[in-house]
Amino acid sequence: DRTTEGGVEAGSEAARRLKIGVYFATWWALNVVFNIYNKKVLNAFPYPWLTSTLSLACGSLMMLVSWATRLAEVPKTDPGFWKALAPVAVAHTIGHVAATVSMSKVAVSFTHIIKSGEPAFSVLVSRFLLGETFPVQVYLSLLPIIGGCALAAVTELNFNMTGFMGAMISNIAFVFRNIFSKKGMKGKSVSGMNYYACLSMLSLLILTPFAIAVEGPQMWAAGWEKAISQIGPHFIWWVAAQSVFYHLYNQVSYMSLDEISPLTFSIGNTMKRISVIVSSIIIFHTPVQPVNALGAAIAILGTFLYSQAKQ
Ligand code: 3PG
Repeated sequence: DRTTEGGVEAGSEAARRLKIGVYFATWWALNVVFNIYNKKVLNAFPYPWLTSTLSLACGSLMMLVSWATRLAEVPKTDPGFWKALAPVAVAHTIGHVAATVSMSKVAVSFTHIIKSGEPAFSVLVSRFLLGETFPVQVYLSLLPIIGGCALAAVTELNFNMTGFMGAMISNIAFVFRNIFSKKGMKGKSVSGMNYYACLSMLSLLILTPFAIAVEGPQMWAAGWEKAISQIGPHFIWWVAAQSVFYHLYNQVSYMSLDEISPLTFSIGNTMKRISVIVSSIIIFHTPVQPVNALGAAIAILGTFLYSQAKQ
C-alpha cells in the first residue's frame, strides 16, 4: 500500500544520503592526510614531478593487485574506452603535476585557496569554448570567487609566481578533466573505481617520460640521500603515505561522482578545501594575515553562491 511504499522510498532515500555522506567524509579525511604527507615530503624532497609520478604508480599497482586477486572486478574495456580516456588522462596528468609543483613552492593553504576558484574556470570554459550560456546570477557569483582569490593572492605573505600559476593551470586542467570524465563515464559499464584506476595507469604512462626529462634520476638520487639524512629512514613511509592516500582519495571521489551530479561534486570539493586549508594552517603553522583569510572566505562563499545560482 501507499504508506508502506512511501516508507520504503523515504528509507532508501535516507540510505542513499547516508552513503553519500560517508563517501564525502571519507574523501575529505583521505584528502587532508594526503595533503599533509605530500607537503612533508615536498619540504624535505622538492621534486614534485617524481612525487606526482609515484602517487600514480602506487595507485596503478594497488589496482593491478586488486584485479589480480579479484578484490576488485576487472573492467571490460575496449579500444574505444581507452581512446575516450586519453584526453581525460592528459588533463588529469597536467592538473595533478601542476598542483604538486604549486604545493612545492607555496603553502598548501594558498594552493587550495586558488583552487577554490575552479568553478569560475568551469563557467569561463563552458561559456567561451563550449558556447554554453548561464543565468546572470551565475556570472555574478564569479565576482566574489575571482575577487576573493585575487585578494588572497595579493596579500599572501609567501607569494610565488610558480606556486600561483601551478594552481591556476591545475584549475583549468581539472575543468577539462571533469567535462571529459562526465562524458566518458556516461552509459559505460566501468564503475567509478575502475574508471579512476584506468585513468591512473594512462596518466602514469604520460607523466613518466616528462618527469624524467624535467627532473631525472640524478637529481632524485641526490635529493633522496639528503632527505634520508635529514629525516631518517622513515622518510620512505611519508612517501608511501602520500602515494597511497592520493590514490584512495581520488578513488573515493570518483566513486561518489558515480552517484551524484557534477554540481554536488563540486560543492563537496569546495567543502573539502575548507578542511584542507584549516588543517594545513594548523599543522604547518602557516602565517595568515586577517585580510588574507578574508580573501579566502570571500572566494569560498562565492563558490556557494555559484552552486545556488546553478541550481
Ligand atoms: C593533486 O595533486 O592532484 C592535487 O592535490 C589535486 O587537487 P584536488 O584533487 O584537491 O583538486
